[in-house]
Amino acid sequence: MSADDTLGTGTGTFPYPAGPGGTVPPRYARLLAEDPVSRVRLADGAEIWLVTRDADVRTVLADPAFSRYRAAVLPGSGFGRGQGTGIVDLDAPRHTGLRAPVVAGFAPERVARWRPRIEAVADELLAGLAGAPGPVDLVAAYTAPYAGRIICELLGFDGDRWSVITGDIETLLLSGGSDGPGTAAVRDRLQGAFAGLLAARRARPADDVATVLLGLDEPASGGQHLTDGDRTTLLHGLVISGFIGVRDLLARHLYAVLAEPDRRERLAAKPDLVPGAVAELLRYYPSSNDGLLRVATRDVELSGVRVPAGAAVLPLISAACRDPRIVDRPDTLELDRTPVPVAAFGAGPHRCPALDLAVVQLTVGLGRLVATYPQVALAVAAEDVRHTSDLLPLGVAALPVRLGAAA
Ligand code: HEM
Repeated sequence: MSADDTLGTGTGTFPYPAGPGGTVPPRYARLLAEDPVSRVRLADGAEIWLVTRDADVRTVLADPAFSRYRAAVLPGSGFGRGQGTGIVDLDAPRHTGLRAPVVAGFAPERVARWRPRIEAVADELLAGLAGAPGPVDLVAAYTAPYAGRIICELLGFDGDRWSVITGDIETLLLSGGSDGPGTAAVRDRLQGAFAGLLAARRARPADDVATVLLGLDEPASGGQHLTDGDRTTLLHGLVISGFIGVRDLLARHLYAVLAEPDRRERLAAKPDLVPGAVAELLRYYPSSNDGLLRVATRDVELSGVRVPAGAAVLPLISAACRDPRIVDRPDTLELDRTPVPVAAFGAGPHRCPALDLAVVQLTVGLGRLVATYPQVALAVAAEDVRHTSDLLPLGVAALPVRLGAAA
């Protein structure tokens, strides 16, 4: 590590600049090799510890010696500070009670029942793009409506309302919690939508997540103990993860495949490669660092370094997914690699409860695109695609492509 990265000596602040194509900061490789548990400063002056190796990241995420709640209520914002209301911000036992119905709502059997509907949504959207005269932006025309419609329907909303609901969610996120006259109206509309959904499901339960959160599934899986306030907070968070998370990560995966035409050709020719390719893409472009911060509640040793009680610790999943201790050639995207068991969906009590849904959506979203339009190609140079960090640092602003003829 160079002197200027070291806490207290100068200019190095976290986060670090991303690598080419929106990949993880090149500096992570150096941290993994030489300084796996390091103290850094954020731009606002706060001091945190970065943890990079797979085994240490899993310890921070899973060991009760690390509190998520104490990090969520730290002063400042970003990296999961200044929150403290969502499920991802809580510790046991409050967290455990809220999480059980969410896990049930996204259970593998439910996701398997949903798969035909997910495929149909992808196919309908792709069919609607046939014959487009010029370049098509796959974010606006495909990944956004795909993610938005699916999460809205799965929660229990009429899927045709997806753009209003997700638009309101995005407006509130971009407002950063500030309450202007415009945002108050948006917040009220969204609260009304969630209240309306809960009232509709109380009157007529259905095979959806809102019904599970109400405890009206059979047998009830814990939702009956929630308040309507809990349910609304959960639904709000689920729209954020289900819409923004899937829209942006799928767009990023499509970008990676289309940036090198032979990747797209191989996946179009061999659809069996798609599930493994998605596992590798999740390793190569995992989730953001947002919301991962923890606070050590006692002294803990990680990779031989003593992290003191009270320290704020950021387990960098995106670095751990490139830990050479668990993966060969970590910085190379190899779509036919035997899947590596990385922590892309977290570990421990907060491990993503919707990972089956996310994997199915990413697999279907990529697989149906290359099967339907085997010649699909970027309409701009790969270097000109802009990678975003507006909300969560894992998207592309737009992905202009030429679809070519449908298969
Ligand atoms: C798109 C791919 C996705 C990735 C890579 C991903 C990743 C993650 C990760 C790493 C965590 C753990 C955070 C922590 O430990 O602090 C997490 C938690 C969570 N994810 Fe996902 N997620 C994805 C999609 C989704 C989807 C589609 C939903 C729901 C619609 C969802 C809902 C959640 C929830 C509710 C939590 C918090 C769980 C808890 O605190 O117990 N995620 N996700």
